[in-house]
Amino acid sequence: MTDKQGSAEAEDATTTASTSAPPRPPSSSSNSNSERLLGPKSSVCSRSYFVVVMVFFHVYIVNVIALLLYVHYSSGQEDASRPGRDAARSGEQHAQSPRPPSTAPSLRDISLPRMEGIRVGHVQKVSLVPNKVHEMTTLSLKPLLFEIPGFLSEDECRVVMQLAQLKGLMESQLMVQDGQEELAKELNLSPEEIFNLLDINQDGQLQLHEILTHSRVRDGIWLTPENLQEIYAGLKVDKDGNGLLSLEEFRLLSADAFQRFLLQRGVKRSQLVRNSRHTWLYQGRGAHQVLQEIKKRVTRLTGLPSTFVDLSEPLQVVRYEEGGHYHAHHDSGPVYPETACTHTRLAANASTPFETSCRYITVLFYLNSVDGGGETAFPVADNRTFDEVSLIQNGIDLMDTRRNCDKSNLRVKPTKGKAVFWYNYLSDGRGWVGEQDEYALHGGCMVTRGTKWVANKWINIDPDYQRQARYQQLVSQQPEDEDDDGLTSHSDIHEEL
Ligand code: OGA
Ligand code: CA
Ligand code: FE2
Repeated sequence: MTDKQGSAEAEDATTTASTSAPPRPPSSSSNSNSERLLGPKSSVCSRSYFVVVMVFFHVYIVNVIALLLYVHYSSGQEDASRPGRDAARSGEQHAQSPRPPSTAPSLRDISLPRMEGIRVGHVQKVSLVPNKVHEMTTLSLKPLLFEIPGFLSEDECRVVMQLAQLKGLMESQLMVQDGQEELAKELNLSPEEIFNLLDINQDGQLQLHEILTHSRVRDGIWLTPENLQEIYAGLKVDKDGNGLLSLEEFRLLSADAFQRFLLQRGVKRSQLVRNSRHTWLYQGRGAHQVLQEIKKRVTRLTGLPSTFVDLSEPLQVVRYEEGGHYHAHHDSGPVYPETACTHTRLAANASTPFETSCRYITVLFYLNSVDGGGETAFPVADNRTFDEVSLIQNGIDLMDTRRNCDKSNLRVKPTKGKAVFWYNYLSDGRGWVGEQDEYALHGGCMVTRGTKWVANKWINIDPDYQRQARYQQLVSQQPEDEDDDGLTSHSDIHEEL
């Protein structure tokens, strides 16, 4: 862009130079013939040559100055984030940040730090706690994903699991989920229209994978190709049993019929999207020392100003029993202009049709080593391309973590104390949160032996920084010591998340 502009300017300058060179006045001196013949010619030549060179020279200087200004400006922006990151690395707090990040105007100057992956297998040393250096290894670049063994000590892992047990864990997913019918009504599409949208290859038939690509999950139930065939058989829609649906057959497969069949047949926990229990642990003032310490360490790891971490969701602790799993998913959804973030919605003062959790970063901790299975799978990590359709091929659904974890591009083994972290959103190129990273798709593989304990620390940042700024301003205005139980007002907002 800059280059093109530069050369266009240079071209213009040359044209101007050659046309505006003043004609040389006739020579009045009595020079020799050869001089007369050659003299004026060479003189005119050298003058226009000089003008052209000078113009080039000026354009060149202007370009160099512009380039220097650009480099200075962009490195200046990066520098704004550096104190945070360097402080994080050297184990200091973010007190060096030029301005506190809790007020709206300063947010404009903030360029969110983002780790550099360099290449897969690259190891960087990070200083997170006094007297210890951790090693952080790049696991993939798409998504930008790292692992840090020994991030938590054995004692810390134990305390977190015990605190979760004390609080009590709830089912991560209820057996029957409502709301799908309403969605179908709102959809306002005829069966023909839906059929046409699902029929990816437009052959007038719906193959199993064509249905599953769009609706793997029905009422919270994960559908496998076999499930779908069973439903076809139960509802007698696929008369010839070839697994293909014509438009006429598809009409019989109404949302109501689907739901009635599933309810009648009953659902096992293993057929849900997620088969685990979880709870939330508050990490603010008054929380257990270990929880506050983990939050501090996460702040150092990410290099983010502490406000962002302080204002994020509490720690989620998850337990999978033997047979537990979590099919591949995104921790946070795509953000369109009409999408609100859960954490800033209250401050946004506008009603929007969509909402997502805006989890910029996921930090996942393994609280125990699992006897069998239970890896975290990233089915398309560092794939050359991302293609939603090819997630199911030849009846193999890469998102199915009960069956196909072995076909995932990347699997992380759960080891006690290890942390992995990744970015669920790309950078917008200007130091803020950009689009969702589709490659951040991941899931928990089935636990084949023993129990698996993990914890999630999500860092919520609104891709719309004005909304984030307003939100931070709003919570910073709340009185800090209102409640006598030590909880601040904004922590109450987060308790509800
Ligand atoms: C999650 C998650 C992966 C795992 O809890 O969101 O993706 O390995 N967990 O348990
Ligand atoms: Ca088809
Ligand atoms: Fe997840």
